[in-house]
Amino acid sequence: MVVTNSTVALVTGASSGIGRGLAIALAQRGAGVALIARRHERLNDAAAAVEETGGRALPIVCDVTDRTSVEEAVAATIMHFGRLDLLVNNAGGGHMGTIEDTPQDELERVFALNVFALWYASAPAIRQMRSQKSGAIVTIGSIAGKMGFPGNAAYVAAKHAAVGFTRALRTELAGTGITASIAIPAGTLTEWAETIEDGAMLRLFEYEARRGAEIAREQGVDAYPPLPLLSSEEVAEQILIGLESRLPEIYTHPDSRERIREYEERQIDAEARLEPYWLANREGYRRIREERQP
Ligand SMILES: NC(=O)c1ccc[n+]([C@@H]2O[C@H](COP(=O)([O-])OP(=O)(O)OC[C@H]3O[C@@H](n4cnc5c(N)ncnc54)[C@H](OP(=O)(O)O)[C@@H]3O)[C@@H](O)[C@H]2O)c1
Repeated sequence: MVVTNSTVALVTGASSGIGRGLAIALAQRGAGVALIARRHERLNDAAAAVEETGGRALPIVCDVTDRTSVEEAVAATIMHFGRLDLLVNNAGGGHMGTIEDTPQDELERVFALNVFALWYASAPAIRQMRSQKSGAIVTIGSIAGKMGFPGNAAYVAAKHAAVGFTRALRTELAGTGITASIAIPAGTLTEWAETIEDGAMLRLFEYEARRGAEIAREQGVDAYPPLPLLSSEEVAEQILIGLESRLPEIYTHPDSRERIREYEERQIDAEARLEPYWLANREGYRRIREERQP
């Protein structure tokens, strides 16, 4: 899909990070953009940034885990702009916790946000796009939807489900003129890790990177170098390039596609190169838990 000034897009989770970056990048290409999130001040700020580019913005306060609110937000977008060409299922987030430590409410929250919400926004969007005989749905997955990571299993499993959702969606949309794709970002400098449990996830990531490299040296393991961190603007731009190229899976970071391919084709070898980071994560996780529960 090529974004033009007749395109109407709806971006969930547009009040910060990648979603905000996407809303602005879409507006710069001329699209009218509906922005969805819960924090109204941050949402209005993102909408103002869209308008500063000369773009058209419609901020809608909405919790994507509430199906009725999402259906109303999709209807409000169509009412305001007269059509809907692009849905970006971007809202998402994780939980810091091993499988033994994940409480039921967190498990349900992570799946509601990263998985169930895909149905809530996509179903009404597809109905509208079918009537237009065109459209595109892009879901923001993660490298965590393609391989395992420790201390964050609910998110890893939910992002794997997002890959399955997109694959199934592509089969249902065959011949309709509507496309579906999934973006696979790696580390992106957003609020993501900071907002999880008061920054605990960010501290865990930092510990893992530093200590993982140390363990690899101690053990003489040829560990993978960390993938580069990108800004949300860089990731948004890569996603739109992938959308315009009609890629089913959009890899936003250099080397990430190759890393996933190695993991899928030679998992045991790839895991040996990742293990120092997993061990470091386990150490860091224990430390953070002990600090919290002395
Ligand atoms: N950052 C990374 O390293 C990274 C890597 C791979 C994939 N991703 C994925 O990229 C996407 C965007 O993440 P980000 O890094 O940009 O995170 P972020 O800066 O924390 O932004 C998350 C966005 O989702 C919104 N959101 C969260 N819960 C919501 C809810 N229940 N209803 C409506 N909106 C909700 C937030 O807005 P409100 O709080 O205002 O509702 C915010 O706008 C996510 O799907 C994430 O899994 C991120």
